[in-house]
Amino acid sequence: MLSSKNLLSNIGSPVLSRKLSLLKTQGFINGKWVTSQGGTKFEILNPSNQSVIASVPDMNAQDTKLAIDAATEAFKSFRNTTAKYRANLLRTWYNLMVEHSEELAKILTQENGKSLAESRAEIAYGNSFVEWFSEESRRINGEILPPTTDNRKLMILKQPAGVAALITPWNFPHAMITRKAGAAIAAGCTCVIKPSEDTPLTALALAQLAEEAGFPSGVINVITTNTNNSPSVGKTICDDERVRVVSFTGSTQVGKILYRQCADNVKKVCLELGGNAPFIVFESANVELAVSGAMVCKFRNTGQTCVSANRFYVHKNVFHEFTSKFLEHMQRDIVLGDGMKPGVTHGPLIKKSQIDMIDNLVRDAVNKGAKLHCGGKRLTNLGELFYSPTLLTGVNENMEIFKKEIFGPIAVIHEFENEDQVLENANNINVGLAGYFYSENLSQIFRVARKMEVGMIGVNEGLISCAEAAFGGVKESGLGREGSKHGVDDFLDIKYLCLGNIKY
Ligand code: SIN
Repeated sequence: MLSSKNLLSNIGSPVLSRKLSLLKTQGFINGKWVTSQGGTKFEILNPSNQSVIASVPDMNAQDTKLAIDAATEAFKSFRNTTAKYRANLLRTWYNLMVEHSEELAKILTQENGKSLAESRAEIAYGNSFVEWFSEESRRINGEILPPTTDNRKLMILKQPAGVAALITPWNFPHAMITRKAGAAIAAGCTCVIKPSEDTPLTALALAQLAEEAGFPSGVINVITTNTNNSPSVGKTICDDERVRVVSFTGSTQVGKILYRQCADNVKKVCLELGGNAPFIVFESANVELAVSGAMVCKFRNTGQTCVSANRFYVHKNVFHEFTSKFLEHMQRDIVLGDGMKPGVTHGPLIKKSQIDMIDNLVRDAVNKGAKLHCGGKRLTNLGELFYSPTLLTGVNENMEIFKKEIFGPIAVIHEFENEDQVLENANNINVGLAGYFYSENLSQIFRVARKMEVGMIGVNEGLISCAEAAFGGVKESGLGREGSKHGVDDFLDIKYLCLGNIKY
């Protein structure tokens, strides 16, 4: 068994300056680069031009078992490591990520399609979680409680929960892994990472850096899986009682399936699911500020973000000003194209099902009478998956887009007259991840912030994510929080200890 003293000898050394090749094409189980048990592979396509970037193993339930075996074995030692050791391990991983930021960003742009500028921003954002949790690791404190009788000592210990399965999406292939894995490792858990079938290359690059950082075998495992195998891999993870935590970011629909499957052996679940963010511009708002916030909030990652503004509500007295300025910015500031090309600000949608869904929503709205101010079409001259940034007004409840999480570059603006009415509309939905509003009225700011039914609020701010913040939602947007000091909670068990009959 590895002692934390032995483990420590691997780390803390200065970060290597040699450049590693991070484009890996095998899965990573128990510290080894491996093919799938079934021997099959699948291709990863660049959404900008459908070229094949690489092929990776199509891993199945058998591979998943092997990864869980490895993580279970590794946990026996890893659970006993010191917080300082894990802090150093994460810091070494972080340093390597920083050193290889540019290469990571290029892999990300190729497999996800987002512009290089956006990928660089995601890498910096994703890295910051590993830095944050390297620091948080040493602040996972227990508690000493005041006893009710003086011959007792009562305390609370926090212990790593066990093997954690991290199931991550394609929209933030780097940051969604580091936000989960950083917390899991800080807590002393070992991980089985299942990245999206669309973007496994970033995950494998992170595994390569973890190996380089000196992570003991089995502490981080990555299984790459195509769409057909994903349900059985998910089920294997949920059914295996050795997996004690499932942390998932993705759709509400899949989140509910995993949640149900985890019930049988009562796992801890952290679910970061869909949103449908309202973005309210009150009469007192600084409209210029609201427009720039709206641009980043709506179009970050070409609108494929859970916290994207999904429904704009603009007070009737500033409706025209906001709408015309927003339209002006949309037409001026967004440059679509292959993310690797200089000057491109936004890339394509991730896949055909996504662009089809968006196109159908826009067509349905326009056919039922919505007003199209710009966009509303596929840009096949750029590539199969490009869609023009679209602005709609006059949308009503008979249109599909009215309540749907859009996940694309479509902005829908509604007009409103008073605060109570807009809050009722904003809250009249079964999800509540993020919400935004712009106001210069202090009482209104506190009133609306209290009443909005969401887990996160941007007040006069359209981009709120950071490692320090508690990311997560209410209602069907999920359970648990990621990032912040709360991010480790889902990876920890609380143990109460009562020491009795102490003689003084
Ligand atoms: C997400 O869309 O799921 C994550 C967005 C963020 O971290 O800001």
